[in-house]
Order: sequence, then structure tokens, then C-alpha cells
Amino acid sequence: MNQSPDTLIAVNRDTVTEVHGDEGMVVNMSTFDYIELDRVGIAMWQALLDGGSANSALDILLARFEVDRSTLETDLNEFIIQLTAVGLIDAEPQPDRYEAKPTAAPTAIDLYLDLLIRTVSGLTIRDNRKGMTYVSPFHLGHRIHGRDIPEEAFTMIGLLRLNNVRALAERALVDAVPGDFIETGVWRGGATILMRGILAAHQVTDRRVWVADSFEGLPTPDLARFPADDYWSPLAGWLNVSLEDVRANFDSLQLLDDQVVFLKGWFSESLPTAPIEQIALLRLDGDLYESTMDSLTNLYPKVSPGGYVIIDDYNLDSCKLAVDEFREKNAITAPLQIIDWAGVWWQVPSE
Ligand SMILES: C[S@@+](CC[C@H](N)C(=O)[O-])C[C@H]1O[C@@H](n2cnc3c(N)ncnc32)[C@H](O)[C@@H]1O
Repeated sequence: MNQSPDTLIAVNRDTVTEVHGDEGMVVNMSTFDYIELDRVGIAMWQALLDGGSANSALDILLARFEVDRSTLETDLNEFIIQLTAVGLIDAEPQPDRYEAKPTAAPTAIDLYLDLLIRTVSGLTIRDNRKGMTYVSPFHLGHRIHGRDIPEEAFTMIGLLRLNNVRALAERALVDAVPGDFIETGVWRGGATILMRGILAAHQVTDRRVWVADSFEGLPTPDLARFPADDYWSPLAGWLNVSLEDVRANFDSLQLLDDQVVFLKGWFSESLPTAPIEQIALLRLDGDLYESTMDSLTNLYPKVSPGGYVIIDDYNLDSCKLAVDEFREKNAITAPLQIIDWAGVWWQVPSE
């Protein structure tokens, strides 16, 4: 029996566990923080769930493994500290100091938009991870962080960047920042479908969602003018999804109507004449230097004061160079906010 004071373990209601053989992860689905588990981590996590307290988990593990008690106790305590730090569990000394912490009940809008985000990202069908040349099992962490290319899902940008779209779109609505929402570079349309869903959820009928893409995949880089796009030369035509398929994706979620406007063509041709008046949320996901620069040059002047600019691909040299050059040339000093390993955003200053 244990002599040291026990620690009660309460699992956060947003915690999700994934295990595949000897690898797994526990994920906080409200923040998307997660801890990866190896074989020992899986055993410790299972023991905490089964035992409900640190001492019970220790007893379970000692009965199962031949291991030095004090080493295991140290490892288990460290594990509990890690889990607590990212909100996967609440760990409090028992018996009298523990009280379950009430969490705010989600609203109907939260439930709808969470479900929409899970749907467009392929979480609901546990869509396979498909790289450029391989398919491997669904990986929750990769979906959360948008590190893979899903087989069927409507977006590849992952839950963190989808939630960022929601957060900034809703801020624009609450703050009455005038203008439409637009994404340049939509692939299967998932991020723009979410934008339309956000308008629907908030019963906004006087804003539109612009869906801008070649619908023929990535362009052939113009290396004479844009040498930074060298990397993309072999990838011309990749990520080709037809306009009809993107329309069908909107339609499948009952979000296709006249508040959705498709802008088909290469950005250099479609954006200069696009009849867009004001933009509250500008999202760029065109990967290349040229695509990023064309989007910024043509659309940034239309972003309202207080509006938002999201850059999906700031991790890519080509995109980063275009963003950095554009910001410098236009003396944009609004700080870049980091979303995750790839995405950043900034707010256009209010006048
Ligand atoms: C990485 S994908 C976009 C991913 C998408 N935002 C999502 O939610 O999954 C890049 C898209 O940009 C489009 N694209 C890139 N450069 C373009 C350009 N210069 N003109 C038109 N479309 C372009 C491609 O056709 C492709 O659909």
C-alpha cells in the first residue's frame, strides 16, 4: 500500500485518447494541446484512468511491471504534471480539497461550428493521412495541426487554423468590421465553407464569402519574374479540384447559396477586376510567392480598418518572402500573430 498523500485524477471532458499499437496520444480538444505516448506512456495513462488517483495508478503499474518503485513514482508524477499543464487532467490532493470545476455549457452556435470544423477537416470520418506518395493511418495530431493531406476531407488546414478562422470571423462580426470574407487558394473549399457556416450560424445575410481559385491547381511558376517560386516548378497542376466539386462540397453541407461567390482563374487575372468592395477577413492560402503577392497587392487595400489578414503558409519560404516584402513596402507594422507551425495573422489597424 502507498503511504504518501494521494492525488485524485479527474480527466478533462475535452480529453480524447488515440492509441495505435505502441503509439498514442492524449489530446485536449478545446486547445489541441497534446502529449504523445509511447508504450510506457500508454500504460501510465491507462493506469491513471483505471485507478482514478496517482497511488492507485502506481499500484496497478507495480503489479504489472517489474520496476523500481521510486523511479516509477518519479516518472508517474512527472507524467501527471505534464498532463495537468496542458489541461488534460485535473490533479488535486484528496480528499477534501478536490472539487470538480464547472465548465460553461456550449451554445448551439458552438456545437454547430465545432461540428462543422470537425466535418470539413475529416475528423468525423477519420480520414486517412495521404502524403504525396504514401497513405498512412489517420493521425489525430496531424489533423489538428494540418500537417497532412486528407484523402477526402474538404480542407487540409487542420483544427488550429480552422478555429482561428472562426475566432477572427466572429471578432469581425462582433466588432462590426465592414466587409466580406475571402480565401484565395481554397482547394476543396473547406475553409470557405466554414466562413459561410459562420455567417449562417450568426444569421448574417449582408456579407458574402468569396471563393477564389484557379480550380486547376497550382500555377506554373514564372521563374523569370519570381525566382522564389523555383520549389513549385514540378508541382504545377497539383491540388487541382474543379469548381463543380467545390460547389458540391458547399451543397453537401447546405451552405451553397447566393452569399457564396466563386472567382475562377489565376489570381493575377481574377483578382484585379473582382467586384469586391470591402473585406473584413482576408485569408491567403496560395503557397507561391506570386500567388501570395497577387492576393496582397489586389486585396489588401480593400481590407477594412480593424479587419484581419490570415496567411496560411508563412512556413514556406516563397510565401514568407512575399509577405515580408509586402509588409515592408507598405510600412505595415501590425505584429504578426502565430497560429501554429504554418499560419500567422495580423489585424489591420483601426483608423
Ligand atoms: C494549399 S491549397 C489551399 C488549401 C485550402 N485553403 C484548404 O482549406 O485546404 C492551394 C490552392 O491555391 C490555388 N492556387 C495557388 N496559386 C494560385 C493562383 N496563382 N491562382 C489561382 N489559384 C491558385 C490552388 O489551385 C490550390 O487550390
